[in-house]
Amino acid sequence: MKIFKSVEKFISSKLQVQSFVPTMGNLHQGHLSLITEAKKKSGNICVSLYVNENQFTNKKDFDLYPITLDSDIKNLKKIGIDYLLIPEKKDIENFSRPFDVKLEPKEITEDLCGKYRPGHFLAVIDIVHRFFQIVKPKNILLGRKDYQQIIAISKLIKIYNYNIDIISSDTVRNKNGLALSSRNNLLSKEEMKTANEIYSSLLLSKQLYNNNVSLNEIIAKIYKVFEKSEIKLEYFSIRDLKTLQHRNDSDLIALIAVYLGDIRLIDNIIIKSRAV
Ligand code: PAJ
Repeated sequence: MKIFKSVEKFISSKLQVQSFVPTMGNLHQGHLSLITEAKKKSGNICVSLYVNENQFTNKKDFDLYPITLDSDIKNLKKIGIDYLLIPEKKDIENFSRPFDVKLEPKEITEDLCGKYRPGHFLAVIDIVHRFFQIVKPKNILLGRKDYQQIIAISKLIKIYNYNIDIISSDTVRNKNGLALSSRNNLLSKEEMKTANEIYSSLLLSKQLYNNNVSLNEIIAKIYKVFEKSEIKLEYFSIRDLKTLQHRNDSDLIALIAVYLGDIRLIDNIIIKSRAV
């Protein structure tokens, strides 16, 4: 595994990257599953570790973000990747152009999580756009846990006409169904138990759907479930799987965002799909 801290050196090495796995570090099995997925493709794998301050809408959240560089490097060596890029902010900015904010796909960046985290998806689009210019991959691997992020990045690819394929990967969960997240480390033992209600509510929504309960009734029911919970529901919504727009009769995904104390957690479940 070759480690690059200099963007200039990375670019001048002309690596012809096949699969790109962008991360903010503090790697867990969720991140590593993307690498396992990338290994199914032929060609090399490049992982980036960069905590993108601009996408944190809450300064405290950024300050609390766990940095575990040594163990991340160890894990990446163990799983086996080709290139690791650990760039500095200034360096990224010097070697890439920003996303043109006039082209912001607001129908996605200002909806769902974007409604509660203004500027978040624009900052994600900006950093991924910059990485695309630097890494020039053929594929990008993204986790379906951050489903709205996938749709936002697919908009970026369309807007700039990038010849890059998105490979999405299933959400990795702990034995109780809680989606793995770097933020889970910030939960107490008790809160970890309570957090299981997130996935059970998603399973319930799917079960209700399969029992022909109407979407509006499902949504009402899930809001009711959280009235009695320690968890504060930010939103629960059921949307079109491909576009995340308000649904018609196509494939459907249920998405949820909650607060447990100060910690914000998200998850989703596909409740109807002909393909997945
Ligand atoms: P980060 O939160 O570090 O996540 C990196 C990748 O890992 C994302 O594609 C995310 O969806 C995936 N991932 C996280 N938890 C997962 C889980 N439990 N199961 C499967 N995949 C999971 O997402 C970001 O970083 C940033 O926004 C980034 C794209 C790097 C831009 O800064």
